[in-house]
Amino acid sequence: MPVKSELLYEGKAKRVYRTGDPDRYLVEFKDDATAFDGLKKGTIARKGEINARLSALFFQVLSRRGVPTHFIEQTGPRELLVRAVEIIPVEVVARNIAAGSLAKRLGLAEGTPLKRPVLEFYYKSDALHDPMINNYHIAALELATDTQIKEMESYAWKVNELLTEFLQPADLVLVDFKLEFGLFHGHVLLADEISPDTCRFWDGTSGEKLDKDRFRRDLGGVEDAYEEVLSRVEKLLQ
Ligand code: TMP
Repeated sequence: MPVKSELLYEGKAKRVYRTGDPDRYLVEFKDDATAFDGLKKGTIARKGEINARLSALFFQVLSRRGVPTHFIEQTGPRELLVRAVEIIPVEVVARNIAAGSLAKRLGLAEGTPLKRPVLEFYYKSDALHDPMINNYHIAALELATDTQIKEMESYAWKVNELLTEFLQPADLVLVDFKLEFGLFHGHVLLADEISPDTCRFWDGTSGEKLDKDRFRRDLGGVEDAYEEVLSRVEKLLQ
């Protein structure tokens, strides 16, 4: 079993620890939830476990289908062993249906299908509140090389296709999601997490929101929604 050593980083939803192996980190998922840049705080019962499990399952599905990820194995109920990537400070958001900040910014009704999916970049900076940026900003700030930007874009499109198709038999619509990538010995790997914290999942029949928007917007039934997504995904893999 890998040993947890020095705490390297603590974020809003996860802690990252060094291990005895410089190439591996342990990621521990917390029940803590924040929204609106940390303004809203709370906890979601079992979120840590559910997001660790869902991330492990999604990373396995994606890596089997050719997307390289940081994931190695799940080592505890809320703990993943991962490759020790250095996170590229760019969040990559893909969207299929207008929701959240896109609906607001472009004046679209939430739920409007986009004629073509959209990719957006955000600069991961708490001090600046994660501003939206484009390829030119990324290059000018040297956040990533042009090749790395192209790789992140092409992996994000691939994740969108693969997860949309994977979730369809579970009657889950992948509305939008956020990815983070990291560098590992010069290679770009999909990293961070993929969970109801970082994706919008809508029930395909009722349109019900089954993700963190239930927490952000005080819709109630937060825990049940996270459990529901996990149980549907586990059924797909049985
Ligand atoms: P947005 O509509 O608020 O810009 O969110 C787009 C997607 O990104 C949505 O699936 C939620 C996810 N997301 C995060 O994972 N972290 C964040 O800090 C934000 C703002 C959004």
